[in-house]
Amino acid sequence: LRNEALEQVKSAQDLKSLQDLRVKYLGKKGPITEVLRGMGKLSKEERPVIGQLANDVREMIESAIKEKQEHLEMEKIKAQLAKESIDVTLPGSPVQVGNHHPLTAVIEEIEDLFIGLGFSIAEGPEVENDYYNFEALNLPKDHPARDMQDSFYITEEILLRTHTSPNQARTMEAHNGKGPVKIICPGKVYRRDTDDATHSHQFMQIEGLYVDKNVRLSDLKGILTVFAKKMFGEDRQIRLRPSYFPFTEPSVEMDISCFHCGGNGCSVCKKTGWIEILGSGMIHPNVLEMSGFDPKVYSGFAFGMGPERIAMLKYGINDIRHFYNNDVRFLKQFKRA
Ligand code: PHE
Repeated sequence: LRNEALEQVKSAQDLKSLQDLRVKYLGKKGPITEVLRGMGKLSKEERPVIGQLANDVREMIESAIKEKQEHLEMEKIKAQLAKESIDVTLPGSPVQVGNHHPLTAVIEEIEDLFIGLGFSIAEGPEVENDYYNFEALNLPKDHPARDMQDSFYITEEILLRTHTSPNQARTMEAHNGKGPVKIICPGKVYRRDTDDATHSHQFMQIEGLYVDKNVRLSDLKGILTVFAKKMFGEDRQIRLRPSYFPFTEPSVEMDISCFHCGGNGCSVCKKTGWIEILGSGMIHPNVLEMSGFDPKVYSGFAFGMGPERIAMLKYGINDIRHFYNNDVRFLKQFKRA
């Protein structure tokens, strides 16, 4: 009996069959219990001998089962660990990494550039008062130049800003007539245009403003030259063309030499060798005065540029609508370090 039991315990494959063996040999209906129960029928001399023998056999089987059980439990843990182990040397599954929208990238590049020149960033509301959008910029109600900017009106006095220039007035007001003021202001603007490859009813602008004592047109030219070279390459030439804006006098538009053909004439610059980049000028004395600055003491310049246009030129994008459709096939092409 003992040998048979030990043999079976030894060959038990799992904890369940081991438990069955325990019941079979040591349980209440098992052979050992039966032997012990039958002790009463034995003679006085036989009892201790048989009792001892039965107990020895029970202990042997018990300890064999215990040993086997520990062994099986260990095997089970080992198997589980083997199954759940991770090979850290395997190549990972690739994670889709996003990137900045090309417009955001260009705007941040321009911001960084002007921060490096001592400008700080300002922002203003997209839903604007007629006063800041027009009147404070020397565009009274009946001014014909208001037609230059088709506007989305919300009420007679409130509209979606048509440019970021209202922040010239807002920022100057906040400085209480004391310079220097040196900000750039990026933001969305809105015009009642029909969308096509080069027009959008909503687009972005970056406004620049510098007010201090003795700010001159040559300072404007200097800053814009630095900007053009940093943004489009050191060998860029700039030229200022006379222009008209009601809030600047004199007003100039800046062209840069074409960075596609080096000024020789190509389709990007329409064979002129020059590309128009932004509008700017010396702040009109009326504008300074309305915003609390004494035009006899202070002067300043302002400029406004369109990051879409700059991004389109820089990356050779031929349709402004690509910026707003958010087609990942387009967006994925602009990876920035
Ligand atoms: N606000 C003008 C526009 O939207 C650009 C501009 C800004 C011109 C600042 C001069 C000075 O066209």
